[in-house]
Amino acid sequence: MKRSELIFTEQASEAFLSYCQSSRISKAIIVVDNHTQELCLPLLNIYFPSIVIPPGETYKNLHTLESVLDGLVTHQADKDTLVVNLGGGVVSDIGGFAASIFKRGMRYVNIPTTLLAMVDAAIGGKTGIDFHSYKNYLGTFHMPEAVIISTEFLKTLPQPELQSAWAEIIKSAVIGNKDLFQMIEKHATLSEVIAATSAFKQKICEMDFKDENIRQLLNFGHTIGHAYESYRLSIDHPVMHGMAVAKGMVYEARLAERLGLLSSKDASLICGLINSKMQVDELSEEEFGELKRFLSGDKKNSEGFIVFSLPVGIGQGTYGVKVGIGDLKI
Ligand SMILES: NC(=O)c1ccc[n+]([C@@H]2O[C@H](COP(=O)([O-])OP(=O)(O)OC[C@H]3O[C@@H](n4cnc5c(N)ncnc54)[C@H](O)[C@@H]3O)[C@@H](O)[C@H]2O)c1
Repeated sequence: MKRSELIFTEQASEAFLSYCQSSRISKAIIVVDNHTQELCLPLLNIYFPSIVIPPGETYKNLHTLESVLDGLVTHQADKDTLVVNLGGGVVSDIGGFAASIFKRGMRYVNIPTTLLAMVDAAIGGKTGIDFHSYKNYLGTFHMPEAVIISTEFLKTLPQPELQSAWAEIIKSAVIGNKDLFQMIEKHATLSEVIAATSAFKQKICEMDFKDENIRQLLNFGHTIGHAYESYRLSIDHPVMHGMAVAKGMVYEARLAERLGLLSSKDASLICGLINSKMQVDELSEEEFGELKRFLSGDKKNSEGFIVFSLPVGIGQGTYGVKVGIGDLKI
């Protein structure tokens, strides 16, 4: 696994230019969605050809992947061309996937423009698309060479997008970083929180690039969260990833408590912190019944067992906890 450099800056244009110079980049292709093309590309202040995809999770599919690959052919990309993903997690997941398979692998850099991508999606080299209503069913591991993080992009990000990203920040704090948990409680600045969360994700991914052990901690909230997201995709009512994960974390923290892994006090602290940052409605019986169908299809689960990563304290987690699907209840 190649290391990926985290670059924190106040001005992405300067950092990107200097990255291109120091890495001897002569040709780059920028992947954007319609929103980041309009709002973020001008801030980069550099001219390279771009490939524009439609925005949002609905388009994180094979068809869009194909359009990115078509764009790479049109712009005559070769193995020395740098793919630059300028956008949220959808852009970095699809652009990273395209970079990983085009000509058996191209170099790429992520410049995240959403809070969620800055603290999570752009880091760690997991790429992918949704398939047959299942989240991230197709994908690869392919590390970006660098991730350039600048909060200047967040000025135009809609409030719900900003808010939903807190789920991934709190997740990192809960399963592995007590200091971060306390920083959030004490209202540290957003830049401090981004730096701590992204560095934590980077560290975990370097320890376990292929998601074979400790990286699975990052799945806290995602077993239920992904199933909920898949269910909402299937009824054409997509939900924001972070909101689904927040719902998942509340359910899974209480599950850890029921299993005797987490004290009631810590479960309440975790749910309290989530609710202080985001408005989370509990799952209804009907929703839960529907999403059980998607739990069985999740690639992490097998033979009637659902696999969870759960908190065992504040800043401590465990992974590989198997629970029979019949034992799951509201
Ligand atoms: N690969 C990973 O490790 C990983 C980790 C977590 C999440 N993800 C994936 O990330 C995706 C979610 O990412 P996301 O929340 O960034 O969603 P997103 O990429 O869909 O972006 C959300 C919306 O914000 C818009 N936008 C982006 N930047 C903007 C800006 N600066 N100003 C205004 N609008 C802007 C986008 O166009 C889009 O409409 C999911 O598909 C999830 O599966 C991947």
